Amino acid sequence: MSVAIIAGTAIYDIPGTSLKEEIIETPYGRALVYRVQGDFEDFIFLARHGIKHNTPPHKVNYRANIKALEILGVKRVLAANAVGSINKDIPPLGLALVTDFLDFTSNRENTFFDGGESGVKHVDMSITYCPMLRKRLLALAPNFDIALYPKAIYVSANGPRLESPAEIRMYAQLGGDVVGMTGIPEATLARELGLCYAAVAFSVNWAAGIKETIRFVADSARFDQIKANILALFIETLKTTSDADCYDS
Ligand code: HPA
Repeated sequence: MSVAIIAGTAIYDIPGTSLKEEIIETPYGRALVYRVQGDFEDFIFLARHGIKHNTPPHKVNYRANIKALEILGVKRVLAANAVGSINKDIPPLGLALVTDFLDFTSNRENTFFDGGESGVKHVDMSITYCPMLRKRLLALAPNFDIALYPKAIYVSANGPRLESPAEIRMYAQLGGDVVGMTGIPEATLARELGLCYAAVAFSVNWAAGIKETIRFVADSARFDQIKANILALFIETLKTTSDADCYDS
């Protein structure tokens, strides 16, 4: 079985494993992936900003990344997204299960179906994040010392700048719980290809205007522990589910 973990800011590798770098050529460009030596037949780690964090969110080649996973035969994907917190119940260092999204990105290549050879398709986004993976993440989270906020609406801003307080107030009024820059189009592209995809947001700051100034959580032993817990939760979730369980398989 082929599975993948996608991570970005703050998570650049999987501690305790060895990673083998591979370049995958796709019709949309090259993707850099890492094969994780471990319990799975094929276990892929994808650092969406590149391993040295040198690709900003608005320039990530999301299509190449997702297409590469499909080419590698990956079906189940778990993603971690660093976010700012809008909802007061998800404080910095808190984790939230993403259940829906608001897309405020612009000028990104955001579909595989833009005419030409791939045709035009209007893929249903009613259920973007796989309910089976979500359920499993929620059930397993306490085993990894994670109080997973169960239902978060992810606002995808374009970045790379942070938001204004007025923008955050608008997102709050629209129902946004957390704001990040990488969730979309990654999740929607995964849906377009029929991958079984779920995402966990982890908060690294209060969004603009919630507190006086933006302060990012500092690197700390607690932060390192949380990152390790997320990866352990992801691996256990992937180990204890199967492709056939996916809601649209
Ligand atoms: N806004 C947008 N993206 C982010 C933030 C934020 O406050 N924090 C981490 N990613």
